[in-house]
Amino acid sequence: MKNIYKYFIPTENIVARGGLTDVAALLPPYCKIVLLVTGKNSARKFGYTDIIIDSLKSAGINTIVFDKVEEDPSIETADTAAKIALKNNCNTVIGLGGGSALDAAKAAAIGGATGISIEKLLEMKEKPMEKLFFVAVPTTAGTGSEATQYSLLSNKEKNTKLNLATENSFPDIALLDAELTVSMPVNLTRNTGVDALAHAIEGYLTTRANPFTDILAESAITTVAENIHKVINNPNDISAREKMLIASNIAGRVIAHTGTSACHALGYYLTLVNGLPHGLANAVLLGKIVKWVSKFSPGKVEVIERILKNNVEDFMKTLNIDVSLSNYNLTDDDLINMANIAAGRSSTKATPGSPSANQLVELLK
Ligand SMILES: [Fe+2]
Repeated sequence: MKNIYKYFIPTENIVARGGLTDVAALLPPYCKIVLLVTGKNSARKFGYTDIIIDSLKSAGINTIVFDKVEEDPSIETADTAAKIALKNNCNTVIGLGGGSALDAAKAAAIGGATGISIEKLLEMKEKPMEKLFFVAVPTTAGTGSEATQYSLLSNKEKNTKLNLATENSFPDIALLDAELTVSMPVNLTRNTGVDALAHAIEGYLTTRANPFTDILAESAITTVAENIHKVINNPNDISAREKMLIASNIAGRVIAHTGTSACHALGYYLTLVNGLPHGLANAVLLGKIVKWVSKFSPGKVEVIERILKNNVEDFMKTLNIDVSLSNYNLTDDDLINMANIAAGRSSTKATPGSPSANQLVELLK
């Protein structure tokens, strides 16, 4: 059968304010030793690590904590987590945190089940389907990692990210507990929120979009447009927080099928070389890519601008985001390197018009 398009998400999504306190109830009976994968600071600082340990302990489940995931996690970090899962016979991984922690945890669930190093898994064309039971608990609203099969790991020598994904690497369960996102500071709220917006818009515009992803993307763009200012101006607005979390999840479902675009492909360089947070890098670049795409797909760009009540760059300005690349200390060499690396990525090739490296440099100027 020739596959025209498909929509497939095997993840059970649970929306539950305060649900983390009962996380053990989400696990099947065979889960006896859990590897908890988190970042270095927030999970412990806000008590989330202890909440999970307590919930699991009361259900007779042991927790091994790996809390060393850095921003834009390296292949080595994911491999270390996988080896800890193997050594301790973990049959479950819980990832808690932003996209970095979730992506590293996802890779650990694959490496921990297969016993194959993450480096080798990344190289394999036919990847094994095994993974440990995997629960993803986002504490930011933006990456949508809990709704995708992707684990993006940084190759810091090549200034780009590699993607470990199989058809079976979606989380088994995504727990969307909006109470966990209330403690996000304003900058993180904004930077992750615009990442969700970028996922929805890029997925909507890419040549890999399909009717299922289009409707989800329009919904996610609308929800972000209606709620991102609310969560920035009133961080305790739990209803708006929950809507942003759901929008992020929906945008994640979009890119699970469409991938991203030249925007993310370029943004990885800005993050790894110039230190811009992932979402902010996309926010700076998104309007430039949308402008390029408007030559090929004007109708869809009109829909986006109608929902945002602005063009993308002006919408970013309403969030106090400086979209002038010239203000981010980029040299001409940076622009050329960034464009050369991005031009080789499949997400750039799936951007309408498939911009070449030279065309990317031009649109960035
Ligand atoms: Fe992203």
